[in-house]
Parts: sequence; C-alpha cells; structure tokens
Amino acid sequence: MNTTIEFRPVEQVETDALIVPVFEGVKEERFGAGELADAGELTGKSLELTLLHHPPGVAAKRVLLAGAGKPEKFDPAELRRLCGAAARHLRAKSIRKIAVALDPAHASEEYVAAAVEGAILGDFEPDRYKTDENKKSVESFTVVAPEASPGLEAALERGRVLAEAQNFTRGLVNEPANRFTPSTMAGTARQMASERGLECEVLGREEMEKLGMGALLGVAQGSAEPPALIVIRYKPTAGASKSHLGLVGKGVTFDTGGISIKPADGMEKMKYDMAGAAAILGAMRAIAELKPAIPVTAFLPCVENMPGSRAQRPGDIVTAMSGKTIEVINTDAEGRLILADALTYARGQGCTHLVDAATLTGAIVVALAHLNVGLFANDDAMRDRVLAAARAEGERMWAMPLEDDYKEYLKSAFADLANVGGRWGGAVTAAVFLKEFAGDTPWVHLDIAGTAWLDDAKPYLAKGPSGVPVRTLVRLAMEWKE
Ligand code: BES
Ligand code: ZN
Ligand code: ZN
Repeated sequence: MNTTIEFRPVEQVETDALIVPVFEGVKEERFGAGELADAGELTGKSLELTLLHHPPGVAAKRVLLAGAGKPEKFDPAELRRLCGAAARHLRAKSIRKIAVALDPAHASEEYVAAAVEGAILGDFEPDRYKTDENKKSVESFTVVAPEASPGLEAALERGRVLAEAQNFTRGLVNEPANRFTPSTMAGTARQMASERGLECEVLGREEMEKLGMGALLGVAQGSAEPPALIVIRYKPTAGASKSHLGLVGKGVTFDTGGISIKPADGMEKMKYDMAGAAAILGAMRAIAELKPAIPVTAFLPCVENMPGSRAQRPGDIVTAMSGKTIEVINTDAEGRLILADALTYARGQGCTHLVDAATLTGAIVVALAHLNVGLFANDDAMRDRVLAAARAEGERMWAMPLEDDYKEYLKSAFADLANVGGRWGGAVTAAVFLKEFAGDTPWVHLDIAGTAWLDDAKPYLAKGPSGVPVRTLVRLAMEWKE
C-alpha cells in the first residue's frame, strides 16, 4: 500500500473515498449529512460506517462517515480501529484509493501514525494459500491534515514501518507447520537481517550441545526437524549505551504436546506457537529501520514439539544451560523449557534487560481471555516501561503476580524443579519457572497465548494472527532512557 500525507482543506481532497470521523453527540452538518443525523441514521457510534456518493461541496467521489465514538474517549487507538474498519469496508467494495481527513484537534504525530497503521493492518488478509479468490487490497492511503506541521511526515513513515512489520509477523504466524519449520524460520530471519543490515547467527544442535542446552534439546529430540537458536543483533551507530535489551521469543513451529499429546480438537491452531518468535522478528525488522539508541538482540529458540520415537518422556530429567536440573512432568509444557536456555544464553551475551514473548499457557486465556496480554515482571521499573509502551501503542497488557511463594508449586522430588506446577494458576507457575532463569536481570515475560491469534474477525482486523506485541517492543526500544 502506498501511503502519503497531504495538507489541504477537506473539500479539496481528490480521492475515491474520503474517510471522515464523526463523533457521537456532535451533529455532522457537512456533506449534506444533517438529514441522516436527524433521521437517527448517523449517530457517530464507534465504527458505524455510512457511505455517501458524490456528496455536495467536495472533490472526493465518496465520503465515508466513520463513527468515532464520544469525543472525550477518542484516542489514537480508536482512530487506528476506525481506519482499519474503513479500509476493510471500502476494499470489499473494490474502492482502492482512499484518504482520511484529520480535524485540526487530531492532526498530531500519534494520530497520523495510528491512522496509517489502522489502514495497513486492516488491509491484511491471511489468504496467501487461497488460489481462487480475486484478492482485493487498498492501493493508496492518504492522511489529510489541515496544515503542515513538523514531524507529521516522520510519523506517517513510522506508522508505515510499524504496521508493515506487524503484518510481516502476522504472515509468519499464519504459515502452516508443513511449510514453516525451525529451519525455515532461520532462513526467514537470515534474509530479513541481510536486507536490513542486521547481524544474524543461527546456532544448531551441535552448538547447543556444546553450550549444555539440555532443556531446549530435550524438546527438540522428538522431531526430525532440527532445532535452531536464531540470534539477531541490532547495534546503534552512535553513542555508548549502558543498557542492552534482549528480546526472547518462543518459536515452537508446531506444538503437538509431545508424548503428553494434545487432544485433536483445535490442534491445528498450534502452528501459532511460534508467535512470540515471529513478533520479535517483526520488531527487529522495524527496529532496523527506526534505529533506536539502545542495542537490541533477539534470541529465538525454534523447535517442533513432536512425539517421535526419540521424544522425551514424562519423568525425564534434563540439565538446563544454567546448570539447574528439571523434571519434565509434562512434555506439553515445552515453551518454558526452550525459553529457559534462551534466557540463560541471552544473559551470557551481556543483555542487561530482557523481555520474552511466548504463547506459553492456556491458563492465561482462562485468566484474561483474548483481550489482555499477561505481563509478569521481576522488576517494577521494567514492568512500568513495558506497560507504558503497551499503553501508548494500544496493545492491552495486564500485570500479573510473580511472588516467590509460587515456587512451592514447582517442587520436584527428583530434580531442582518440575516443569509444571499443578492445576491452578498455570500462567503464574509458568512465569515463575522462567523467573528462575532470568536471575537478577530485570525481565518481563509476556504470555500472548490469548492475544496472538483472533478466533473471530473484528471490523478492523482479519481473523487469525494479530501481530501482538510487535508495536510495544519497538516503542520500548525507541523510548529507552538509561
Ligand atoms: N502452546 C501451549 C500453550 C497454548 C495453549 C497456547 C492454548 C495457545 C493456546 C503450551 O506449550 C502448552 O501446551 N501449555 C500447557 C501447559 C500445561 C501442560 C502445564 C497448557 O497451557 O495447557
Ligand atoms: Zn505445549
Ligand atoms: Zn507450546
């Protein structure tokens, strides 16, 4: 999609369809819309869409009046949804050149970026493997502001980079496991890195053995597909930074559960068990373009969790890279095993702050449904940094407890800890397990099992991969203060 910004009055915009936000309780008199409002057909309720053809007094062929909700509640997140819903609505009618008019009160950087993001994200469809459809997409999207002001062009560009990175992630998450293995992930990472000037290194089985990554290798051993630990490095060109941010992403390209096999019903969804790794790959792609001041390194442990004849069994005891022994009570709790070694490795590589993203537990879906990412932290300042970035990006996250007392649940009679903690508080005990490997490094764990995949389409977003938390991770790096 081609994105541009124009500075001119609404009436002069030449486009196939001009999106105009309409607020609840504010009567829209322009475009001959007063009559619609009087008839109760135009309320301004959030995401209500009304398409007008050749409205009087404007150059645009059509005006799409788009409900923006109550003015006092309007924010960039609402505009992002509005532009997404409008783009999807117009595209379905094969209207491909569209624009949105921002009023003077909302012609600021955050709103410009959000508008572009909404359109690009709304235009994404996970239809790569559909051959028989005439695929529709938006050709150009223009943000129209009443007058030029500094920073708006850069904001447009930032929004484009972020949304394209998020769609890149969504495309990867949607890849089926027969076409997307740990090796494919490594190839994709290598290509992305070389296109954008990042360093990329991939550790294979032998290197992992040398490093003593017994927890990661234990998960990998049930599959014919070899594991990969992908490391991608972004280094800022100028200035020495005291901090070094490490991003760790769960990359299980398919999770059958292993010997503790999952029920057949819904198992096809487990191709998205690499959404954490894919989100971090997307974030690195944007980071390479937006160039934050802090060095950022991604660590993506990738495996396929299969019940092959060499698979690990319940009761097996593995030794993690940190030296801790783990009794594998349930082979389906594999994410924490691969992350344990990746976290240890990241600390050894000099990361001073860590964030991991993982589709880790069904329990987080029980706790928070599909609305909030579950956020766990061993450090209040780090928690607040991530929460602030998430809030600014409209990616909802909720802080969960991570008290030491929960460690009780992970006791094993035969090893230092068990990989599962019993029936209750499953998302918390999973996080407490990871905490053992984050040590004293300030760290945040994001459980995205409920939010990385939308079971139902929204007016502004297709069904399937959401691309959460790409934008939060990028903003965290961009706004880093020592
Ligand atoms: N990948 C799953 C978690 C998951 C569940 C993601 C549902 C998305 C939707 C993870 O590896 C897993 O299987 N976790 C188990 C842990 C249990 C065995 C303690 C779970 O949540 O059931
Ligand atoms: Zn599992
Ligand atoms: Zn899993």
